[in-house]
Amino acid sequence: MKTKMLSAKDTKVAADILSMGGIVAIPTETVYGLAANALNENAVKKIFIAKGRPSDNPLIVHISSIEEIHSLVQELTPEAVKLANAFWPGPLTIILKKSKTISDLISGGLDTVAIRMPAHRIAQKIIKEAGVPLAAPSANLSGKPSPTKVEHVILDLAGKIDAIVDSGTCNIGLESTVVSLCSKIPKVFRPGAITIEQLESVLGKVEIDSAVINRLDENSKPISPGLKYKHYAPKVKVVVLNGSKKQYIDYINNNKTNKVAALCFEEDVKNLKVPFVTYGTEFDPSSQAEKLFDALRGLDKMKDVNLVYARCPGKFGVGLAVYNRLIRAAGFNIINL
Ligand code: TXA
Ligand code: MG
Repeated sequence: MKTKMLSAKDTKVAADILSMGGIVAIPTETVYGLAANALNENAVKKIFIAKGRPSDNPLIVHISSIEEIHSLVQELTPEAVKLANAFWPGPLTIILKKSKTISDLISGGLDTVAIRMPAHRIAQKIIKEAGVPLAAPSANLSGKPSPTKVEHVILDLAGKIDAIVDSGTCNIGLESTVVSLCSKIPKVFRPGAITIEQLESVLGKVEIDSAVINRLDENSKPISPGLKYKHYAPKVKVVVLNGSKKQYIDYINNNKTNKVAALCFEEDVKNLKVPFVTYGTEFDPSSQAEKLFDALRGLDKMKDVNLVYARCPGKFGVGLAVYNRLIRAAGFNIINL
């Protein structure tokens, strides 16, 4: 299939392709999404095929105004209204009990549905012009880092989807925070740019699912299917080094094995004696979030490297989201220094 390259002013073309049952990669403020009409099962099926996505991993449904949510969920609960008022449009996905409008294909067979109203101007325009809610997972091949630049989408999906809307780089760089309102205490399944502290300021106590920072054992069934899949992993082996800047630098510079590289912060570069890729600066987790996925893809472009030592980010605020993605990319290989 020939994939059409569209620009930010071609929203109507993108919307028409979506209305006719096609699949289109669109920019959002978090990462690029691979969109289809959420009400058209055939179109949604194409997403799973293009990404190679397991069918039990449910999709997020994207809306452009709050009115659109009513037909998608059983009840817009008071907590959901509070969250929507505080954080929509924006990088927050809310899980509620689904209505009959939501197919099992979208919900991965669960009785819930994940909904997000993106803040990105182009995404909003495309949803409005398509006139339907859009199912959209991240626009990467399943298992790869999510795409934050149009070239990542092209690399993974050109030839497999109808069109790609090019709108440069996504400024947040990590996928949305996912919070479920289906349990007594709201539960975060995936941390993101909307932090636990921000959610608690609106909802009171919020729980964090244990799979956010721990490896699931082989047989346990996660409450959010996405948590169980190997994710974000570059081809090269990554190990996270948890310690101070000095411990990190010393560990790497003293290591005797060849072919080692560093995935580090800007500040570390001048002290390191090995090749490196940076992901942001030490005390600015938003800069780490923005750069991480591109940096992970960058590791695979390095020649003659077979082990990467990653600097461990702080685990607070947006840092928790960075940590959550990085430990998955490292297959939970962490060394405490
Ligand atoms: O920022 C984002 O959320 C991006 C942009 C495109 O909006 N989308 C995205 O979608 O990251 P995806 O499919 O790559 O990740 C959705 C995550 C998966 O981990 C999935 O398992 C979880 O949300 N999820 C979706 N629906 C769910 C549900 N009903 N219950 C539990 N988890 C759900
Ligand atoms: Mg994804």
